Amino acid sequence: MKREVQVKGGTLLIREAVPDDAERIIEYINVVVGESDNLGFDPGEFKTGVDEERKILANYLEADNMVYLVGFMEDERVAIANFSSSKRPRRRHTGEFGMSVKKAYWRRGIGQTMLEALIEWAKGTGIIRKMILRVVTYNTAAICLYEKFGFKRVGIITRDLMIHGEFVDTILMGLEID
Ligand SMILES: CC(C)(COP(=O)(O)OP(=O)(O)OC[C@H]1O[C@@H](n2cnc3c(N)ncnc32)[C@H](O)[C@@H]1OP(=O)(O)O)[C@@H](O)C(=O)NCCC(=O)NCCS
Repeated sequence: MKREVQVKGGTLLIREAVPDDAERIIEYINVVVGESDNLGFDPGEFKTGVDEERKILANYLEADNMVYLVGFMEDERVAIANFSSSKRPRRRHTGEFGMSVKKAYWRRGIGQTMLEALIEWAKGTGIIRKMILRVVTYNTAAICLYEKFGFKRVGIITRDLMIHGEFVDTILMGLEID
């Protein structure tokens, strides 16, 4: 998948990550985890090495039911949306995704464009029939974004995360793909 979309302030280029993106993706993740309390890592905790990340990205590229999308403005990586699934026959039609946009680029339509690309990819696989995600209960921006695209709240996972020494619940949301 590769596409260019106009967003506020310029053109967003979206493409699948390749192993050579590994170093920059690690840098990106270490920036965005420090920009909100919404993600599954503590700041500085993401220690995946470049070789390991290269293998992870190669694995996404090879799989027909997983994708790792990166969004660029100019040459800067400004967004990621990645959907992971399983090879097991009973699970390969479903998967969980995560997404983020660098804080300096929020509210320009980038999150929405990344999610559109992810849903379109899922529909195009002919395999994925359900997309799920977990979002912390206080992340109104993300919840609004997902609801805008038809995701339904399907449950609450209590004590799903421990952030700053406190348990945090997450909302489980899902979208069925026809
Ligand atoms: C959530 C996130 C991905 C949104 O990205 P974004 O590029 O700012 O979003 P967009 O500009 O595309 O906005 C799309 C929609 O999201 C919702 N939204 C985004 N920011 C919002 C805010 N501050 N308050 C309420 N709704 C918001 C709205 O529904 C918006 O549609 P609208 O413009 O028609 O109102 C971004 O804030 C982010 O990366 N946050 C940190 C990481 C994170 O929370 N990831 C999700 C983990 S589940």
